[in-house]
Amino acid sequence: MNKIAIIGTGYVGLVTGVCFAQNEDNHVICVDKDNSKIERLKKGEPTIYENQLKYYLNKAIYSKHIEFTTNLDYAVGESDIIFIAVGTPSKLDGSVDLSYVYSVVDEIIKAQQKYEKELTVVVKSTVPPGTCEKIQDKFNDALSNYYLLTFVVSNPEFLKEGVAIDDFMNPDRIVIGSPKNCGNINTLYCYDVKPDTELLICDNTVTAELIKYASNAMLATRISFMNEIANIANLVGADITKVEKGIGLDKRIGDKFLKPGCGYGGSCFPKDVLGLIDLSKQLELPSYVIQATYESNLLQKRMISKILAKEIEYHTLYPRDMKVAIWGVSFKPNTDDIREAPALSTIDHLLWQYDFKEIAVYDPKAIPNLKKELGEKSNRITYGNNMYDILDGANFLIIHTDWDMFINADLEKVECLMNGGTIIDGRNIFINKQIEKEYNLKYKHI
Ligand code: UGA
Repeated sequence: MNKIAIIGTGYVGLVTGVCFAQNEDNHVICVDKDNSKIERLKKGEPTIYENQLKYYLNKAIYSKHIEFTTNLDYAVGESDIIFIAVGTPSKLDGSVDLSYVYSVVDEIIKAQQKYEKELTVVVKSTVPPGTCEKIQDKFNDALSNYYLLTFVVSNPEFLKEGVAIDDFMNPDRIVIGSPKNCGNINTLYCYDVKPDTELLICDNTVTAELIKYASNAMLATRISFMNEIANIANLVGADITKVEKGIGLDKRIGDKFLKPGCGYGGSCFPKDVLGLIDLSKQLELPSYVIQATYESNLLQKRMISKILAKEIEYHTLYPRDMKVAIWGVSFKPNTDDIREAPALSTIDHLLWQYDFKEIAVYDPKAIPNLKKELGEKSNRITYGNNMYDILDGANFLIIHTDWDMFINADLEKVECLMNGGTIIDGRNIFINKQIEKEYNLKYKHI
């Protein structure tokens, strides 16, 4: 039996724990400081919205392959492999805040001294290259008098929110970095690995850590590049969907992550691009491309506001007589996560710049998080029960998230409710619908 502890029950920790617990050779203990989270998880209630999570969580609880606790000491005592999956947010200056990781390391060391056991410690949190080596030094220093060994292994995750379970079960690759025998953690994955999954073992941790940062920065750069091409296409009158297809058909480029939009968000791309910029600064290396990706995305997140401002300038009504409706707040579909979401930039701008008659918002999952984020400002917004009731009398409909329900919208109903209004489509979901020809609506896209 593999005895595994996972510290941190955020997206990565919870999905990793639940997926490992599907294997009958594994026993998993998930640890979190937040008691309310742990109590909900014990009852089989997922603490995040993630496709299939509830099913697999309850399956694991039923088969007794998973436990939840706030007691890290107990989890270390019961386990041989400890995964660290706590957050590594950006600090205000863009550098990476590793305090949660290091405080977990300190607690593991304390428990290890108490139980006098050897451990494999796997860092799943996204950390700047070089961090695992520092963690290894910390273990070595603290445990040398105890003659105890600890193997620190880097095992970055490549899960996309919304499809994280599927990504875990069917990964493109599993990356493991370790100067030793990779703590044998590859055997944990062996059972579930599909034939086309590549297992990439690196003989140091720094390589695996850099693969993670470079992957996210590369994808963020592709998106930003396409956003800039879309902005050019709009001005020269090119069809961006054909441009996207034409580029993606080149097998060297491929067709994934080429969708232009109102900017990338989430807890990963923005943070990891900043993390790489910070690393380059520390290394005194110029990082023009990565810096440009960062700045380009900041500008793109203001694009919707820019389009709206232009439309307002030529409108016969004043903002105080206008209603703006917003579809989608989460940074992408199938999640309630609004971290760094482009919708937040737009809403901020709308509240600060104008005095609209009404701002109405609908999102199928993310409204509770938006209310929390906006605090008192939330009173200035109305929230719909469904995607259509906020459109009644709206002069503008802004689309920030490509939820399926919006893609499949009944456009005749939209036309009827908005009566000559303008759609500003931040995800280009209606770009092929001939909106202006077939409906009494104006249409702007990225
Ligand atoms: C991202 C990576 O895709 C995962 O591989 C990685 O494991 C994860 O970060 C992480 O580091 O934990 P995630 O943040 O869940 O996953 O979301 P993505 O699906 O990558 O989307 C990020 C943003 O890019 C979204 O705002 C999305 O709307 C935008 N996007 C994506 C585009 O604008 N165009 C595209 O073609 C694709």
